[in-house]
Amino acid sequence: FMKEALSVVVIGASGDLAKKKTYPSLFSLYTSGFLSDSNMICGYARSKMSDDEFRDKMRPFLIKHGSDDQVESFLRLCIYSSGGYDDAKAMSAAAAKLEAHEAQQTSSKANRVYYFAIPPNVFTDVAAIIKEVGMSTTGWTRVIVEKPFGKDSESFEQLDRDMSAIFTEDIVYRIDHYLGKEMTQNLSSLRFANTFLEPIWNRNHISSVMISFKEDFGTQGRGGYFDQYGIIRDVMQNHLIQVLTLFAMEPPTKFAGEGSEISEHVRDEKVKVLRAFDPVQLDEVVLGQYLGNEKEPGYKEDKTVPDDSVTPTYAVVVFRINNPRWDGVPFIMRAGKALNERKTEIRIQFKRPPASTFMFETDVPANELVVRVQPGEAIYMKTNVKEPGLSNDIVTTELDLSYNKRFQDTYSQLPDAYTRLILDTLRGDKSSFVRDDELRESWKVFTPLLKSIEDKRFKLIPYEYGSRGPEQADELIMRVGFKYTGTY
Ligand code: BG6
Repeated sequence: FMKEALSVVVIGASGDLAKKKTYPSLFSLYTSGFLSDSNMICGYARSKMSDDEFRDKMRPFLIKHGSDDQVESFLRLCIYSSGGYDDAKAMSAAAAKLEAHEAQQTSSKANRVYYFAIPPNVFTDVAAIIKEVGMSTTGWTRVIVEKPFGKDSESFEQLDRDMSAIFTEDIVYRIDHYLGKEMTQNLSSLRFANTFLEPIWNRNHISSVMISFKEDFGTQGRGGYFDQYGIIRDVMQNHLIQVLTLFAMEPPTKFAGEGSEISEHVRDEKVKVLRAFDPVQLDEVVLGQYLGNEKEPGYKEDKTVPDDSVTPTYAVVVFRINNPRWDGVPFIMRAGKALNERKTEIRIQFKRPPASTFMFETDVPANELVVRVQPGEAIYMKTNVKEPGLSNDIVTTELDLSYNKRFQDTYSQLPDAYTRLILDTLRGDKSSFVRDDELRESWKVFTPLLKSIEDKRFKLIPYEYGSRGPEQADELIMRVGFKYTGTY
């Protein structure tokens, strides 16, 4: 792709996502040589601004990612065009700038990426004007879109119908940044490149799996958005279910190779495992909402949140996958804001060693494999060994693959998830993007649960900002068979 002309258009260029993620990621691609001085990056949004004013706005978000010279030469590629989200004339003026630039390039093919950093209510308007005036006539056009992809099955289907009337599925790249994180990318390598793991990756050896997402901050001024969605839609239906399906899917026919069909193998398997989910049992769900403490405000103290809000900021949901590999294994998903720590991890508990009290006169704990997504990427296995020395007791220790120690050279330069995913878009690799049928299936899993919450069939349990969340969550987690071996 690097030999052909390329323009990236960031729609919603003055918004938060563009400033915090899209532009810094494009800048990283530039400093690592995947974008060059011949590329053009065009910001598009409603506010009127000159190119230089736009560059001044963007500069502070780039400086920590490269040298001053790199920042300035990157900013020279960045231009700006203003216009409404349904204004075909303004979009066509932006397209004219791209064409003028493309005409100066030696390549006869000019490719375009449109990055939608905009709220979902204008998705289809923008799509329509791009279709009308913005498509490349000589090369490919690809469109990156962000969640939310609907709020339930019905609204997803509506959005999908509207979008697919405009763009064909092959040009739509639905981004879920959790798929771009190093440890998510690593899941398939870990499973399928290790003969000591894949054979035990099933109900015969695994007793439970817990995927936890914990944040030590609240909604931080995003209460208005958050209250419309809640923790289940905000992180479970997208980020965590994506991680879970990669964890639980059957081996895809093929991972790597040439051709766009390669990425479909992984996505096919993800869809299949989603189809095997049993309906969520309401007594296997705990929901909570945070209260303030001395320092931090409670959820409802956010002025943008209604006083009678019943939106969960914490949830534990147990999933059951009804297929030969996973029958009987609880998949516990736990997510919450305003908790005691920030951490995302997958914790796999294996069955206990047989007859341990007979052999060792003690109850030997089960092995546990932990994949820590963040912070501090790591894989570690809780392993039982003889206590060193004259004792014959068993002690549990860790086989530890902490990335900061094991990969010292690369650790500090691990790419941001968005950088990885934008590069995949340029390469045309869709394996880490979400296909429409994956969303369809995952909404089928979540919609009945979300409806019961809206019908007020749940008690929302208050928990204190900075705590571990409601105690009832731990009770549920233990009831379904997970054993705490520490406090996490
Ligand atoms: C976003 C959610 O999609 O993901 C946020 O809307 C959440 O509420 C964020 O904080 C978490 O992403 P990360 O990469 O910081 O773990």
